[in-house]
Amino acid sequence: MAGDERKRAKRRVFSGIQPSGDVQLGNYLGAIKGWVERQDAKENYFCIVDLHAITTPQKPEELRRQTRSLAAMLFAAGLDPEKCTVFIQSHVTAHAEGCWALNCVTPVGWLERMTQYKDKISRQESVATGLLDYPVLMAADILLYDADEVPVGDDQRQHVELTRDIAQRFNHLYGDTFKVPEAVIPEAGARVMGLDDPTVKMSKSYAHIRGHAVNLLDEPKEIERSFKRAVTDSGNDIRFSDDPEKAGVNNLLGVYKAITGRSREEVEADFAGARGYGDLKARVAEAVIEELRPLRERHHRLMNDVGELDRLLAVGAEQAGAVSENKLKEVKRRMGLVIPGEQ
Ligand code: TYM
Repeated sequence: MAGDERKRAKRRVFSGIQPSGDVQLGNYLGAIKGWVERQDAKENYFCIVDLHAITTPQKPEELRRQTRSLAAMLFAAGLDPEKCTVFIQSHVTAHAEGCWALNCVTPVGWLERMTQYKDKISRQESVATGLLDYPVLMAADILLYDADEVPVGDDQRQHVELTRDIAQRFNHLYGDTFKVPEAVIPEAGARVMGLDDPTVKMSKSYAHIRGHAVNLLDEPKEIERSFKRAVTDSGNDIRFSDDPEKAGVNNLLGVYKAITGRSREEVEADFAGARGYGDLKARVAEAVIEELRPLRERHHRLMNDVGELDRLLAVGAEQAGAVSENKLKEVKRRMGLVIPGEQ
């Protein structure tokens, strides 16, 4: 198995996030918050996946701005550059090359079955090849680092499963090369739903719809308004529930639970004396505002020093490059490609 694995003191974590659109509360609760909380216990690699972002049309200037803004947000949320390698995917060319190698062992049928792909093509007239190939690039991201754990929200579970299948297929064809990673899905916050429609996952793609998402950079007044408008039901019972009618209240309680780290019972007890849904919405909004306030302030400071931000990202790219280039060489060797300087 992976050459450096025996020497590892900590389990290695790899995860990624797209810089398409503003980072929203679902990204934070489903992924980033957990990355920050566990960074001491793990060896960490976090990638801003700009190559994934361009699988759907982006405005170039916007994408460039959003990529740096997302990097600033990851540091603002508490990722410590001393403990985490944070980098931009396109700065480490091994990802695109590794994707090509994995393309050559991945059946097209596996990709056509991906639910995110099916969902995206249903909303688009013309589909780029890159969109179909998206999960293979994600597999390359993860496998090039011999990651043990991939902390993601629930919507990425299927892609991590596919990554495991690709790793196993490669290992079967070419011998034991890749570590087969595990998805780590948080107990709370794994699926934050839209405030405007609690049957739809909160997503950057719908961020333009008023009242759908909370962006991490939203001003407190804006956050308050978004929660005030949140869709609930005509009842007044404040409990966790699987009843589709109660999905709105369930979502609000889920957000509160993910932020406070309290148990279901504690959360329900917190709201036992609440005066209806208005009270619930106001208190969830307050918890979100207080959680995000320091992030927004730190983000603002970091964006005022783009030179320093770029320096941190360059260090991250160098560290990530060292690990992934090494693995890529192993992949090429296994597949019979000539490595310069080797017999
Ligand atoms: P992306 O950019 O869509 O989302 C980043 C992370 O946020 C999680 N997430 C959510 N969690 C809970 N509720 C929501 N409403 C919600 N929306 C998003 C996602 O599950 C994800 O963890 N393909 C990935 C990026 C990627 C990646 C990787 C991830 C590329 N390579 C390698 C892990 C490992 C994506 O588009 O995430």
